[in-house]
Amino acid sequence: MYKIAVIPGDGTGPEVVREGLRVLEAVSQKRNFKYEAIEYDLGAERYLRTGEVLPDSIIQELRQCNAIFLGAIGHPDVKPGILEKGLLLKIRFDFEQYINLRPVRLYPGVDCPLKDKGPDDIDFVVVRENNEGLYAGIGGFLKKGTPDEVATQEMINTRHGVERCVRYAFEYTRKRGKRKKLLLCAKTNVLTYAHDLWWRVFNEVGEEYKDVTREYAHVDATCMWMVKNPEWFDVIVTCNMFGDIITDLGAMIQGGMGVAAGGNINPNGVSMFEPIGGSAPKYTGKNVINPIAAILACAMMLEQLGEEEAAKSIEESVINVIKNKLKGVDAGKMGYSTTEVGNFIAEGVK
Ligand code: IPM
Ligand code: MN
Repeated sequence: MYKIAVIPGDGTGPEVVREGLRVLEAVSQKRNFKYEAIEYDLGAERYLRTGEVLPDSIIQELRQCNAIFLGAIGHPDVKPGILEKGLLLKIRFDFEQYINLRPVRLYPGVDCPLKDKGPDDIDFVVVRENNEGLYAGIGGFLKKGTPDEVATQEMINTRHGVERCVRYAFEYTRKRGKRKKLLLCAKTNVLTYAHDLWWRVFNEVGEEYKDVTREYAHVDATCMWMVKNPEWFDVIVTCNMFGDIITDLGAMIQGGMGVAAGGNINPNGVSMFEPIGGSAPKYTGKNVINPIAAILACAMMLEQLGEEEAAKSIEESVINVIKNKLKGVDAGKMGYSTTEVGNFIAEGVK
């Protein structure tokens, strides 16, 4: 019996989470596993109503769960940073979800903005460090609001944090077993301290994984190759900030935010799964947003929980529905509503 904490969140979050849960219910019946979904009303609405973002009592409850399924957070009436830092990043940090795993896969039938590239060319995974780097939140102001103002934001890289991320990436590359190539994406020519540490750790740990080929590219070049030769990639490991940026690029080459899912993983603890797109205020309440990213996030959650067959069957159903039913994967362009797409995928799970 899995205990799943569900945080639908803001904007279109609840609409896509509803479809994720519909598919979860269908696959649990087919695959004979049991779960309990416990919903938490967190996000902008609660914050605007009560001033609370993530009460300690809820953190304690989340600790008792096997996984967390999150829709989206962010609201036009809430100042940037409050919900992001108070909820999303707080869960990532408090639960030591030190990996942000983001597959970049172009499914057959999805339009790709890259000329002459198809599903065989776009199939790689980004392992983003998720607890350190520029996201650590260390910094401050001096003489704020004056012409002499100074603002700093420190990039934190610990040996421990880098090593566990890099090690996860090597293990993942080996397990994925595709081309067995792991590329470190960094900026060793400028970040000569921070990314020197990454470089040394990458090569040291890599010595234990002789079956995995090591590659390196600077982050700017990585962006270039993602557009020009995405077929070169198998697994990319990178720091928090670079991972944030290159996975939005990744989402675009895989067809858009409607199909991009990710997992915030603590391999020994409570992990959280989410569609990587935001709360999409423009589409909220219209039943037109694509639920596939959320549904794939559910599949990633099941894989992490050890329900690998169930995860596979969701992905297969998604692939079939995209190929045989949908006109497109962007919001409002699917030819069907959010609910209909969720229903098709739920009906298709085996
Ligand atoms: C993401 C998002 C978050 C991040 C924001 C909302 C804090 O962009 O999950 O990629 O920067 O990590
Ligand atoms: Mn992002």
